[in-house]
Amino acid sequence: MAAVAPNPLFGENPFKLGLFSVNADGGLALTTVPERWRARWDDIVHISRLADDAGIEFILPIARWQGFGGQTDARGSSYETLTHGAALAALTKRIAIFSTVHAPLVHPVFAAKALATIDHVSHGRAGLNIVCGWNQPEFDMFGTAQADDRYAQGYEWYQILTRIFAGGEPFDFTGEYYDLKGVVGAPSTIQQPRPVTMSAAFSPPGREFAVKTSDFLFTTFAEIESGAAHIADIRRRGQQAGRDLGVFTTTHVVCRESQQEAEDYYQRYAVDLADHGAVDRHMAMKKEFANSHDPHVFDQYRQRFAGGVGTYPLVGTPRHIVDEMVKMHAIGFAGTTLSFVNFSDELPYFIDRVLPLMASAGLRRPRP
Ligand SMILES: Cc1cc2nc3c(=O)[nH]c(=O)nc-3n(C[C@H](O)[C@H](O)[C@H](O)COP(=O)(O)O)c2cc1C
Repeated sequence: MAAVAPNPLFGENPFKLGLFSVNADGGLALTTVPERWRARWDDIVHISRLADDAGIEFILPIARWQGFGGQTDARGSSYETLTHGAALAALTKRIAIFSTVHAPLVHPVFAAKALATIDHVSHGRAGLNIVCGWNQPEFDMFGTAQADDRYAQGYEWYQILTRIFAGGEPFDFTGEYYDLKGVVGAPSTIQQPRPVTMSAAFSPPGREFAVKTSDFLFTTFAEIESGAAHIADIRRRGQQAGRDLGVFTTTHVVCRESQQEAEDYYQRYAVDLADHGAVDRHMAMKKEFANSHDPHVFDQYRQRFAGGVGTYPLVGTPRHIVDEMVKMHAIGFAGTTLSFVNFSDELPYFIDRVLPLMASAGLRRPRP
């Protein structure tokens, strides 16, 4: 077999980029603008190849099983992430292809085989993003209650998965959540001991879980100052466990020639034409079931929820966006995901205008 290149997540760019939620309608936005993202398969392929050719490091799908209601039922339509990953693995060349997997909803024996398949199809570019759950109405669809300690369950899930990847003799596993006999799975993954792994969380237990299981934590921040404090906390937890855990964050992007133009469009899609019903439902559910943001974000930043479910806004000129990324890198983020109202309309401009400025700022190597 040809030599396998290292997964792009371990490549040389100091500040790495991914695309988040291209697989789901609306992307990350909760908006009614007519040009909102519809997540049609051919458009997803087009965007993934564009990102691949531009040297963007990864595609990260969102894992959703139902929408958030409102006028658009945002995220009501989305592609399942493992099958989506297998297809994109065959259609791209260099970019890492993550699958976001609900540990409590997808059996680890199945997940191991699916991920190994993607790792072979992609020649070592598969990625695993572990989510341990928050959205109870989705769990109701599976007839499943959430575990009292979802991260304890997730850790058993992870142990089974990685033991399968290690190959060897059939094994039994007896834990609090799984009781399995004669477990095997071949082929093993090309990436060893496992595909590059991140886990998405914000809370302290979620951080501890990431330290035990993942190469990267995927997390939110509200302001540069509080982001620095979060990173210090995550680093400290990693150091205590002897792990060098990288931290990725997530943003929604409006990039235009002038600052005013960008802000006007942000006002249009995330305030004037926000899907207010979906914003109300999403914020209420997140408040009830998840701690995935700083608490004050819910009250102060409604526009950010419509703009990109509470992620950090990168709104402005190419220069402004790169200045923001320089600050994010300076406080310790390894990179960020990007989401746009319409990836097809907006990603080409971002690639043309922002990537060269990132190279000049030392955030990325210049592209030949
Ligand atoms: C950046 C980020 C991305 C996430 N992506 C997903 C997702 O795709 N699907 C999902 O069900 N949960 C997702 N979550 C939710 C988390 O996996 C977790 O269930 C939630 O944050 C509550 O756990 P916590 O209190 O430990 O953060 C995400 C969370 C964060 C912070």
